[in-house]
Amino acid sequence: MFSNTSQSYGLPARALHWLTALLILSAIALGLYAEDLPRETSAQAETLKSLYSLHKTIGVAAFFTALLRILWALTQPKPAPLHPERKAETTAAEVVHWALYGAMLIMPLSGWIMHAAESGFAPILWPFGQDLPLVPKAEALAHSAKAVHKLSALVLYGSVGLHVAGALKHALIDRDATLARMTRGVAAGGPPLPHGVASPLVALALWAGVIGVGLTLPQDTPAAPAPALSEATVSEGNWQVSEGNLAFSVIQMGAAVEGSLPNWTATIRYDEISGTGDVRVEIDTTALRLGSVTDQAKGPEFFDTFTHPTAVFEATLTRDTDAAHLAQGTLSLRGAVQPVTLPFTLEIDGDTARMRGETALDRRDFGMGAGYTDEATVGFTVIVAVDLTATRAD
Ligand code: HEM
Ligand code: HEM
Repeated sequence: MFSNTSQSYGLPARALHWLTALLILSAIALGLYAEDLPRETSAQAETLKSLYSLHKTIGVAAFFTALLRILWALTQPKPAPLHPERKAETTAAEVVHWALYGAMLIMPLSGWIMHAAESGFAPILWPFGQDLPLVPKAEALAHSAKAVHKLSALVLYGSVGLHVAGALKHALIDRDATLARMTRGVAAGGPPLPHGVASPLVALALWAGVIGVGLTLPQDTPAAPAPALSEATVSEGNWQVSEGNLAFSVIQMGAAVEGSLPNWTATIRYDEISGTGDVRVEIDTTALRLGSVTDQAKGPEFFDTFTHPTAVFEATLTRDTDAAHLAQGTLSLRGAVQPVTLPFTLEIDGDTARMRGETALDRRDFGMGAGYTDEATVGFTVIVAVDLTATRAD
């Protein structure tokens, strides 16, 4: 009743089989459903967040159930196949079982690594934190884990399909006790048989292939980090930006999410003697990157990059003391124009200038995330940081 025998599955083995099946099938259904949902308005984002939170929580539960199931199976005899004389069919069923054992671990682990490597978005609904030891926050890692997760899902669909088809064939065509062994714990079959290593090895090779291909798939190439300089930069300004970084960060679900705007052009005029000048920066908002929520950030609720593909910062530059400067002007972003002051330091060494500055903006001033009226999901403050190197052009 409790333990397996060579002819039957005990209650724990059966309960753990059906619990894993339920959790895995629910995770698949939620994953597929959420994948195709629109993700533009705040209401859609909220629904998506809840669905992915549920998906992740069920997936993590499936992982621990699978661990328990595997540990339990290791202590138990394995019921012998009902038709050992049908060699090909028995081997195929065994390969699929091993492939399913692999999926039980690889699906949740790849999902969990993807989740831990990226910031923000839908949390796992539990009190034990969202990160995983040894998993750094790194976009490239999240990308690889996602590729493995998606590719493994294909193997899982195939294995579950064959597995369920096999179970139905036994129940409806062979009319044997295969399904009844797993549902009611009926005893059937002959004496125990020695375990072969061929089936687990085939499944292992299959999973090694899936992980290998997932890890080597090409990454989305991020937009070039160096700013593309317009003609105007050279002809009108007297400093030419050679490299630069325009980054921003916002608190999302309690965690800081870092984003960047890699494409922009700057026209800078600065007079070292008076410490004054002006700057005009044109930012291509369509190139923005914000970890896993890049698409949402580009959507109509936030940057609305389709309607407003360019943001413009125009300011006059004044020197405060030595390296300390101020850029005071306006930022035009998604149709709103607001005054912005950017304190920055300027260090000039020969013909090279390094400028670093940081300022805090309130997203509500630009009508961003109007549907997110409190800070629970997305914070109001957006920290913008600029770090650039320019060379003298006159
Ligand atoms: C409605 C869906 C399912 C049905 C009808 C079903 C049915 C069965 C049956 C009848 C067996 C016993 C086979 C035998 O004794 O040779 C079995 C075993 C097994 N099932 Fe399922 N199953 C389902 C879903 C799943 C899912 C989703 C997974 C995992 C992802 C899974 C993993 C396994 C494994 C690994 C075994 C082998 C157990 C062992 O002997 O170690 N099953 N299943
Ligand atoms: C048994 C466990 C799991 C199964 C069967 C599963 C299955 C799936 C499926 C079928 C998809 C849709 C894939 C596609 O459209 O190609 C998906 C997507 C996703 N899963 Fe899972 N998953 C599991 C566990 C997890 C866990 C534990 C996490 C995170 C903690 C997770 C995070 C995600 C995320 C973030 C996506 C969306 C990926 C994207 O951006 O397209 N999954 N999952």
